[in-house]
Amino acid sequence: MPSQNSTKFNVKDTSFAPQGENNIAWAATQMGTLAAIEKRFKKEQPFKDVTVGMALHVTKETANLVAALVTGGAQVAITGCNPLSTQDDVAAALAKRGVNVFAWKHETNKEYYENLNEVIRIMKESKRKILATIDDGLDLVTTIHQSHSDMLSRLKVGTEETTTGVIRLAAMANDNAVKYPVIAVNDNQTKHLFDNYYGTGQSTIDGILRATAILFAGKKVVVVGYGHCGKGVAIRAQGMGSNVTIVEVDPIRSLQAQMDGYTVLTMNRAALVGDVFITVTGNKHVISASHIKTMKSGAILANSGHFDLEIDVIGLKKMAKKVSRIRPSLDEYNLGTKKIYLCGEGRLVNLAAAEGHPSEVMDMSFAGQALALEYGLKHDLLPGMHQLPSEVDQGIAATKLQTMGVDYEKLTSEQYRYSKSWQEGT
Ligand code: NAI
Repeated sequence: MPSQNSTKFNVKDTSFAPQGENNIAWAATQMGTLAAIEKRFKKEQPFKDVTVGMALHVTKETANLVAALVTGGAQVAITGCNPLSTQDDVAAALAKRGVNVFAWKHETNKEYYENLNEVIRIMKESKRKILATIDDGLDLVTTIHQSHSDMLSRLKVGTEETTTGVIRLAAMANDNAVKYPVIAVNDNQTKHLFDNYYGTGQSTIDGILRATAILFAGKKVVVVGYGHCGKGVAIRAQGMGSNVTIVEVDPIRSLQAQMDGYTVLTMNRAALVGDVFITVTGNKHVISASHIKTMKSGAILANSGHFDLEIDVIGLKKMAKKVSRIRPSLDEYNLGTKKIYLCGEGRLVNLAAAEGHPSEVMDMSFAGQALALEYGLKHDLLPGMHQLPSEVDQGIAATKLQTMGVDYEKLTSEQYRYSKSWQEGT
C-alpha cells in the first residue's frame, strides 16, 4: 500500500505493528472479492482527489478495506466506532503504513469523541477537493451535521455499515436533515443476509466463549431480538446443543421463531429461566434492571447490538454491592443474594471479547463499502439516504461465488424472456 503524506496518528503502541501486519495478511487470504476490486481500483484510481474519513471497527478486515481505498488513490483518516473494538496491533500497523489512525482499545467515551474529531480535522484540513465518509453507527455523520456544517458542501458521498446506523439515518432523512448523499450499505443483500446472520451468529458465540469458556450444550440460551443477527445467533447456539428461547416484539418474527422450533417467551418469563442472555435488537434496555433482579444466580449477560444500551448496565451497577473483573472480558456483579456475569461491559461482545466477524463475511460487507463509495463519487446523488443498485449487489455475490470456486446456474434467453412475459399460461 502506498504511504500517505504527513501522517498523524494516535495508537496504543506502534511496536505491535508486526503482529498487526500478520493479522492483516491472514485476513487478506480470505477476502478475494475485495482483492478483485482493489486490483481494478489500482488501474482506475477512482479516489485520487478524495479524502475519506472513516469511523469503523479498526480490525484486520477494515485494514484491508483501507488498503483497497488507498490503492485506489484515497487519503484516509480512520477512527474506531466503539471504545472496545479496536485491535491495537492492526491500528499500529496502519500507523506504520502511513494511515492517519486514531484508535485504541479501552478508549473512554471522551477519548472516543476526541478521536472522531481528529478524523474530522484531517478531512477539513485536506487539500483534496472531495470528501467522503464511511460510518458504522452514524456517529461520524451526526457529529459532522451537528458541529461541522461548514464542511458539508465538500462531502460528495457517505456510506453506513450497520442496522442501527441505518435506523438513525432514516430518522434523519425523515426530518430532511441529511445534507449529503449517504448510502445504506447495511441494506445490501450481500451485507445483512451474510454479515448480520452468519457473521454475528458465529462471532457472538465466539465472543461469549472467549469471555467465559462455558459449555453451550445443555444451556438455556435466551436470544432477545429475532432479526438478521438474532436468527444467526439462535441457530448457532442451537447447533451447539443449547435450548434456545426467543424474545421478540414483532409478531411475525415471533411466529417465525416459534415455527423455527424455538420457545417464544416474554422477557419477564425468559428472565426466570435463562442461563445465558444475548441481546441483538438495536433497542434500549431490552434487559432492564428489574429483569436482572429476577434472574438465576450465575446468569451470564452479553450484548451484540451496536450500542451498549441494550442491557441496563447502569441499573445493574446500581444494584451491585461489588463489581470484580474476574477475566479480561468478564465482570462479576455481586448483588448480595446472587451473582450476575456481564461479558465485554455490555458492548458488542463479538468485537469487545473476540475479533469480530470472520474475514470471509467482511469480504462481502467491505466490497459493498468500496463499491458504494465509488458509485457515490461517479453519480450526482441528491442529499439524503440511498441504496446501492441491486446489480452492484448481485455483482458482489457473483464475484464471491467465483472466489469460492462455485459455478451457479444461469437463465437461458428463452427462460429470461418467459420470466418477463405474461402471454403464456396453462
Ligand atoms: P433487525 O432490525 O433485523 O432485528 C432487530 C430485532 O429486534 C427486530 O426483529 C425487532 O423487532 C427486535 N426488537 C426490537 N426491540 C425489541 C425488544 N424490546 N425486545 C425484543 N425484540 C426487540 O436488526 P439486525 O440487523 O439484527 O441488527 C440488530 C443490532 O445488531 C443492531 O444494533 C445492529 O446495528 C447490530 N449489529 C451488530 C453486529 C455485530 O457485529 N455485533 C453486526 C451487524 C449488526
